Amino acid sequence: MGGGSAELLSRIAAGDGHGENSSYFDGWKAYDINPFDLHRNPDGVIQMGLAENQLSLDLIEEWSINHPEASICTAQGASQFRRIANFQDYHGLPEFREAMAKFMGQVRGGKVTFDPDRVVMSGGATGAQDTLAFCLADPGDAYLVPTPYYPAFDRDCCWRSGIKLLPIECHSSNNFALTREALVAAYDGARSQGIRVKGILVTNPSNPLGTIMGRDTLAMLAEFATEHRVHLICDEIYAGSVFAKPDFVSIAEVVERDVPGCDRDLIHIVYSLSKDFGLPGFRVGIIYSYNDAVVACARKMSSFGLVSSQTQYFLARMLSDREFMARFLAESARRLAARHERFTSGLRDVGISCLPGNAGLFSWMDLRSMLRDKTPEAELELWRVIIHKVKLNVSPGTSFHCGEPGWFRVCHANMDDETMEVALDRIRSFVQQEHKAKAKRWAARGPLRLSLPRRGGATASHLALSSPLALMSPQSPMVHAS
Ligand SMILES: Cc1ncc(COP(=O)(O)O)c(C=O)c1O
Repeated sequence: MGGGSAELLSRIAAGDGHGENSSYFDGWKAYDINPFDLHRNPDGVIQMGLAENQLSLDLIEEWSINHPEASICTAQGASQFRRIANFQDYHGLPEFREAMAKFMGQVRGGKVTFDPDRVVMSGGATGAQDTLAFCLADPGDAYLVPTPYYPAFDRDCCWRSGIKLLPIECHSSNNFALTREALVAAYDGARSQGIRVKGILVTNPSNPLGTIMGRDTLAMLAEFATEHRVHLICDEIYAGSVFAKPDFVSIAEVVERDVPGCDRDLIHIVYSLSKDFGLPGFRVGIIYSYNDAVVACARKMSSFGLVSSQTQYFLARMLSDREFMARFLAESARRLAARHERFTSGLRDVGISCLPGNAGLFSWMDLRSMLRDKTPEAELELWRVIIHKVKLNVSPGTSFHCGEPGWFRVCHANMDDETMEVALDRIRSFVQQEHKAKAKRWAARGPLRLSLPRRGGATASHLALSSPLALMSPQSPMVHAS
């Protein structure tokens, strides 16, 4: 903040709670300065840090072309223009809430039903978390969150509300599954420091793991929440992005069927159309709470982040086209599965493994063997090489509060097939050259030379790392990988 202006603002506004100044944005900056384009900038940075689903947008485009009446700005829909343009009730259009409730049930395999009167709108899942934190906790209170977790929770839950997120440490030894022991340890740890735990926040399916939570784990969480009178907030933003077995289980199902004694007043679901539909620009977030007081308060709060009535109108029509939605969900899952398989098998070919996943728009890539040592610093060194030399903006595990260095989230649903192949070529080339150069570099300790393949051409751009030893120690398996 420029000299003297900080005191003009609130402490929160002048503070750093948004997180945008974090070093983790370096990758985004590198991409912004030099964005990859297959034809115009084939040596640019490929954006693999964005969990965006661009694989099935053509289906939505096609639907909107075939349904001009769903838009109030077409000749076929203009008769509704005045009604919709004037609508600003924070309950939302009744047909929108109705369609959304039905669709939320459809995404969850028709195993549960949702009550439209409990559907509250917000500006994306981002706004939903901010609203829920406002409703559920006071400054200084805490949510417990299994690691690794979506980094922006620190902003969404904490910035305005002043609550803390405390990690529940999960480990690769059991594929980062959440255990009751880890939950109890985090809960007891918070209490011993005099911190009031108000909630447990989980993301199911997980970002960044791409895995889903089992029914038993969800039941354990519901029981723990009931026993300790803490809220359970389930972010299910990737519920419709599960592309392989096992099937997704929603907390709604567990509450209704598996844990009849669960105190429903403590259960809240966050959903959004940003991921399953690839519509983050529409800013459609949903809070679905079983608690009447939370529904009432969140609804009043939704005045601050209403979904535009024009968007509600369009979506009400699209979501209630059940036949289209079924086709969309099936085709989207098929495309996500194909992309996931192509990407992870490409990595496997060069000896890089990923956590087995069946959901989401990304893979959790294991580069532990490439670290010079098992420290967060070594992870960040490797990350910088990947950004600046391999020219892929991936996200380091530390940014997800992962306690084990060496894991990286790689998004692969936000690009076309050709771009993904370029990304794979670059990784392959990087790993192979590291293998070949190992002995030579170790002996000479000269500058590391790295060539990035240029797709469709014989040209290879050779980039010398100006100071490899500034980036990695002589012990680095990056230097010595065999
Ligand atoms: C787990 C999770 N929750 C929430 C969000 C934010 O979604 P929205 O665009 O709906 O605000 C994201 C986006 O990456 C996410 O991964």
